Amino acid sequence: MKALILVGGFGTRLRPLTLSFPKPLVDFANKPMILHQIEALKAIGVTEVVLAINYQPEVMLNFLKDFEEKLGIKITCSQETEPLGTAGPLALARDKLVDGSGEPFFVLNSDVISEYPLKEMIEFHKAHGGEASIMVTKVDEPSKYGVVVMEETTGQVDKFVEKPKLFVGNKINAGIYLLNPSVLDQIQLRPTSIEKEVFPKIAAEKKLYAMVLPGFWMDIGQPRDYISGLRLYLDSLRKKTSSKLASGPHIVGNVIVHETAKIGEGCLIGPDVAIGPGCVVESGVRLSRCTVMRGARIKKHTCISSSIIGWHSTVGQWARVENMTILGEDVHVCDEVYSNGGVVLPHKEIKSSILKPEIVM
Ligand code: GDD
Ligand code: MG
Repeated sequence: MKALILVGGFGTRLRPLTLSFPKPLVDFANKPMILHQIEALKAIGVTEVVLAINYQPEVMLNFLKDFEEKLGIKITCSQETEPLGTAGPLALARDKLVDGSGEPFFVLNSDVISEYPLKEMIEFHKAHGGEASIMVTKVDEPSKYGVVVMEETTGQVDKFVEKPKLFVGNKINAGIYLLNPSVLDQIQLRPTSIEKEVFPKIAAEKKLYAMVLPGFWMDIGQPRDYISGLRLYLDSLRKKTSSKLASGPHIVGNVIVHETAKIGEGCLIGPDVAIGPGCVVESGVRLSRCTVMRGARIKKHTCISSSIIGWHSTVGQWARVENMTILGEDVHVCDEVYSNGGVVLPHKEIKSSILKPEIVM
């Protein structure tokens, strides 16, 4: 079975992290976002993943070469010369996706995190006999997503409306699709949107079906959602494989600490924290609702909450970092500095406090 992951786009909403790496390679819960998806695909028997990409393909491929071997899955790129939207890339990768077997293939948005119930989705797809299946989930604020109106019992989709201005429903497109090869006959090789052009048409033909996603879901393409997504992910890890979570007197709630990270004496870590490979957290540090990425160092008695500390950054001692502070790669925050929502570009040194949310260039 094959799969295509849509990895185009510049990830502007996740800057400054995406100034260093393309969005799918930004770490989430101690591994690149896209690896969560590739591992889930591999687990249900997908043998080849096509990355539909329009930006820095070399960076992506170099990085994934290692994992190709480790996971035993073929990873190739299909590169656009101009952004083709969310449907055009499928037409471009047609030869890679279709092998004459008539087997359906998966299509995934690269910035969503969930429990990926892909096996259940295959069963659902086989059972309804339509042309395409999409996964949906309920949210409180549907207007920033694609909204699906469906028949509850069969899952048959009546209407698909991308980013509706008026309320049509609260079940939204989760960005996980299973499509028959025949869907490709309806997509032209030009910039085009699967949400605006393809799904509404298949829905009108009554051949589009939606399955309500069991478990958590989050689009982690924005800092606030990234931080909420980590909470949901760790919650689900607690239920499924709690052995992967850290434990001990210094841990509160759900926390993951990479085996190569070092934690000093008298720290209090959690809830909802991820500490990446090679990080050093010195003594007396307090961390909650935050991600500390690979190679970062947090010095003594510092307090960090609701923030993301980018790769190889350092936060000085007795500092206080909070309220959606996002430090890019290799940022250095000096001792005793306070950051209230600072968004700091890579390779910067912060010598004085950031008193209100702002971008530091
Ligand atoms: N290859 C390629 N080329 N990929 C693209 C392009 C492009 O031109 N444009 C966007 N993508 C990729 C993005 O990288 C992402 O993985 C996916 O397509 C969706 O684009 P986003 O920019 O993240 O869209 P969104 O979050 O506003 O909305 C989409 O996702 C929602 C769920 O998170 C839509 O699919 C909505 O219907 C859906 O509800
Ligand atoms: Mg998105």
